[in-house]
Amino acid sequence: MPSKRLLQALAGKRTDRPPFWFMRQAGRYLPEYRQVRAQAGDFLALCFDPPKAAEITLQPLRRFGMDAAILFADILLIPDAMGCRLAFRDGEGPVLEPVRDLDAVRRLDDDGARVAARLAPVYDTVSRVRAALPAEAALIGFAGSPWTVATYMVEGGGGHDFARARRFAFGDPAAFAMLIDRLVAATIDYLDAQIRAGAEAVQLFDTWAGELSSAEFERWCIEPTRAITTALKHRHPAVPVIGFPRRAGANLLAYQARAGIDAIGLDAGVPLDWAATQLQPVSPIQGNLDPMLLAFGGAAMLEATQRILDRWGGRPFVFNLGHGITPDVPVSHVAALSERLRAGTTP
Ligand code: CP3
Repeated sequence: MPSKRLLQALAGKRTDRPPFWFMRQAGRYLPEYRQVRAQAGDFLALCFDPPKAAEITLQPLRRFGMDAAILFADILLIPDAMGCRLAFRDGEGPVLEPVRDLDAVRRLDDDGARVAARLAPVYDTVSRVRAALPAEAALIGFAGSPWTVATYMVEGGGGHDFARARRFAFGDPAAFAMLIDRLVAATIDYLDAQIRAGAEAVQLFDTWAGELSSAEFERWCIEPTRAITTALKHRHPAVPVIGFPRRAGANLLAYQARAGIDAIGLDAGVPLDWAATQLQPVSPIQGNLDPMLLAFGGAAMLEATQRILDRWGGRPFVFNLGHGITPDVPVSHVAALSERLRAGTTP
């Protein structure tokens, strides 16, 4: 029986209170993050600087006492390590060399040893964090899901409707499948190495899962995720995998049934009653406070939090937001929410 609250909940055990952590809990809303970020200059350099990345990973726990730290890195480090060069420009988000046809897919580096060598600083960060972690807190590793990472690669950056990625998938499914397969292989190696370095659970972020129709969802979201979870379970049967197929709606049922995940992350659009009756009896759930309510704060934030605790607190669940913390969130709101969550379901 694991002693850390997060791992207990992910194993389907009742906990004295629901564990909590927040997606993007390390980041620009924290003054101490901005300070380290300014020293590093560039966001990518920060991701590949183990002492600084480890420091940033631990910053939110010192202030707010979350039950888990999430590795400070980015889902786009994998394409970068595969030779799809990445840059972050201020105010513009990520920019990548686009991958739009079979030739571009073939040019990606699929030499596992070379890719691993480029990602080695991330594994170093994981071991540093694990060594410095408070005893009660767990360390979560992560990667993007192949579909979401592919959308950034095909678009050459962030997008709105991902028309290019979806057109690629319809127009040349064999080439798109090759891209997805390469991402599956790289993601398995990446998460395996994070776990060997000390990650105690991993999360797959599928931010753009909701852009897919249900047939495409099966092929580009569920199947690649299952390939990853199958390989990871083979190597690390006891390490839980959280899947977060954002805005997947009713497709969440198929995802939970077939993606091979241990727990399912829910966005703010998922109704509490529906999740409590349809999803929570099958596996632990995680979510789903609207990050906008964290930005807003006050009674509205605490009332919404109470509704989640009341509806989901009776069975294993992990409190989280429905998506990441935004840079405009006041530190005092995160402190108030964390204090409330540390008090348990009925304060
Ligand atoms: O959650 C954490 O605290 C761990 C670190 C983490 C980051 N990104 C740090 C980051 C995690 C888990 C991610 C995941 C990620 N990255 C996702 C999936 C989750 C989601 O938010 O949907 C996606 C889609 C990305 C890609 C990405 N990274 C984008 C689109 C951007 C730019 C948008 C923005 O907020 O500026 C990033 C940059 C990024 N990743 C920042 C941080 C702290 C901001 C960089 C900065 O300091 O300028």
